[in-house]
Amino acid sequence: MTLSQFEIQEIDQTVLLWLDEARKQTLAAMAQQLDVGTKSNPRDLVTNVDQANEAFLNAKIRAFDPEAHIVSEEGFGDHQLDMQGNVWFVDPIDGTMNFVKEQTDFAIMIGFYVGSQPVLGWILDVVNNVVYHGGPEIGVYANQLRISAPKNEPLAEGLVLLSGARLLYGMFGYDEIAKAALGFRIIGAAGPSFIRVILGQAVGYSSKMMPWDFAAGQVLAKTLGLSVSDIDGQPLDMLSSNIVLVATNRAHRDILTLHQS
Ligand code: IPD
Ligand code: CA
Ligand code: CA
Ligand code: CA
Repeated sequence: MTLSQFEIQEIDQTVLLWLDEARKQTLAAMAQQLDVGTKSNPRDLVTNVDQANEAFLNAKIRAFDPEAHIVSEEGFGDHQLDMQGNVWFVDPIDGTMNFVKEQTDFAIMIGFYVGSQPVLGWILDVVNNVVYHGGPEIGVYANQLRISAPKNEPLAEGLVLLSGARLLYGMFGYDEIAKAALGFRIIGAAGPSFIRVILGQAVGYSSKMMPWDFAAGQVLAKTLGLSVSDIDGQPLDMLSSNIVLVATNRAHRDILTLHQS
């Protein structure tokens, strides 16, 4: 089923209200002692806020769109096997390590896809109270302000954002990519990294990510004409982990060339 522009605008506005509530709950929880646990290893953190936000947002989605499937990080979602119908991606706190260590770069993210097509994405910068949202039918906004496509700069003229752990261990050719860029930065969270590329503050970003890490960012980046693929230039698999590359078209070409050489 294709959604009209009006319906898409309504979905956008509805999700903005949920995110505003989630933000208030997150700020209230930050004023209390966080409950921090680990998952697969000592660096894989989860807090009571990750869990509460996901339970809250997934309940909102299920009430609003009962037939839909939800792919989310902390266990409140579905075990999704295909991209048929409406699929929502939820990252209740993106950048949990930053969040726990009182860094400002963390986000709450939602992506909405219909029949595998990107429709809407939301990245909420909680601390600055700016939500980056939109999609191909309505454009991309920072709160109410429309964002235009960033300049198409090459790798040598911009900052590249990389996953610190993979750079440190020389994985995925990140060392060569960092050397070829004007400079590199490690932000420590996918959403805030996507935002910097979308705003033209960085020419590219790459990390190994799960679908909830890149679903929202992919919608916004593609809408603005940026290139989004895996590190081999292939489309992203929305149901498993990918080495994601988002970049200006020129930087994307530069990085793929470096990676293939
Ligand atoms: C992680 C962060 C990190 C990225 C990882 C993600 P989380 O998300 O975005 O920067 O490198 O791939 O898993 O676990 O904090 O939501
Ligand atoms: Ca996590
Ligand atoms: Ca994440
Ligand atoms: Ca998360």
